[in-house]
Amino acid sequence: MNYDHLKRPLVLVIFGITGDLAQRKLLPALYQLLKAGDLPEELHIVGISRRDVTKDNVYAKLRSFVGEFSYAEDIERRLKDSTVMVQMDLLNADAYRELLEHLQVVEKGYEKVSRLYYLSIPSQAFTPIIKLMGQTGHQRALACGEDPRLLIEKPFGFDLASAKDLVHELSVYFDEDQMYRIDHYVAKETVQNILTFRFQNPLFESVWNREHIDHIAVVAREQIDIEGRAAFYEQTGALRDFVQNHLLQLLAITAMRRPAQLESDDIHASKLELLKAVEAITPSKVAATALRGQYEGYRAEVQNPDSNAETYVRLALQIDNDQWRGVPIVLETGKALDVKRTEITVCFRQPSDATGEQNRLVFRIQPQEGITLRLQTKQPGIKNITADADMDLDYAKSFNVRPAEAYERVIVDAIRGDQTLFASAAEVIRSWEIIENVLQRWQRDGEGLIPYPKGSAGPVTPVENNG
Ligand code: BG6
Repeated sequence: MNYDHLKRPLVLVIFGITGDLAQRKLLPALYQLLKAGDLPEELHIVGISRRDVTKDNVYAKLRSFVGEFSYAEDIERRLKDSTVMVQMDLLNADAYRELLEHLQVVEKGYEKVSRLYYLSIPSQAFTPIIKLMGQTGHQRALACGEDPRLLIEKPFGFDLASAKDLVHELSVYFDEDQMYRIDHYVAKETVQNILTFRFQNPLFESVWNREHIDHIAVVAREQIDIEGRAAFYEQTGALRDFVQNHLLQLLAITAMRRPAQLESDDIHASKLELLKAVEAITPSKVAATALRGQYEGYRAEVQNPDSNAETYVRLALQIDNDQWRGVPIVLETGKALDVKRTEITVCFRQPSDATGEQNRLVFRIQPQEGITLRLQTKQPGIKNITADADMDLDYAKSFNVRPAEAYERVIVDAIRGDQTLFASAAEVIRSWEIIENVLQRWQRDGEGLIPYPKGSAGPVTPVENNG
């Protein structure tokens, strides 16, 4: 891997620096990278905000998000010293021209420099900002010849049509290789490890198919509720927030065929091929394959007594290709549940005379990152008793290193120009296609929305109730 870019000065322009995401994820990630010496020495952060916001305001919560244990005052000071705030009317072209002039002054004198724009803003606000950036020349190569890059937060679009529009709008000004569509789940340490596990260990390759695998479940259960993000969640819901992006990306990485090379273009080609084989849910199948729930108290929290926003989703999917045809795929996510657990379970078929549990391979993405293989063993003793046992790889115990947070990896890879862990336009569009009919159906009314108590295992379906 080439890390030369990390030696070059970096100009990082952050739109939405005062927003929830930048505060919780981006600034703490920059802090950790700075602390570990993994950012360029010459660092210029340009924070954009509509209101008059001071640097002190921007970094006021950093300490609480970084956590006392790892917090160091001098690192915060260095981050602050590297930051300038620019107040800007985001709908005024002159403001973008002035911003560009400002960036050119900062970059002057550097032989090589990287410039990144980070758009941490709601997806509805993308289009006008992208247009004005494009019309005023922010996409053009820098004086040193480098192309600026654009980091974009999910959800990318609001539905299939808006995502297509957005892809088009962006392509008018920016090339695909300038665009880095973030899906921070793909950048999680344990998700990257799925690639290594699957493609560097030939052990499982020959059984990774419908003949041997019974089903696959991709599950992201959260204990947290919407944490005050009422406006965002009312417009988004769990299907857009988690399934369209994180869960379908995880499925693609788990089920895609071996890429020609373990390199960005080939990995994207394999992922896209898999997503294209995932059957889009047809309108007539929505009721049977898609389940939605909402935690009790949600409507009061968002002050909308009629809200139909789902905080829980379970989808049953099928992959129509020779490798996976007929293998049930389940995607599940929800907020305010009993446990925090993100994991992918690959469950193997059993011979008909077998007793005990099925063999299963579990990628534990968080917490307690690791990989578990559940096997049948003979319980010690003179009797022949079969017992389930786990072979366990626990990252914390096996590797005594601090795992990088996903956003740290996102930033470093964007600086390095490595698009492997980002979503391509085609992947994003295909993911919208898969769920589009569910979105449309759920938008109409609240039929089938099942309430569930906070802290529970999620909605109980009528069938489960009777059983
Ligand atoms: C974000 C979602 O993409 O991921 C949030 O918008 C969710 O709703 C978050 O809570 C979870 O991320 P992580 O990395 O904390 O599991």
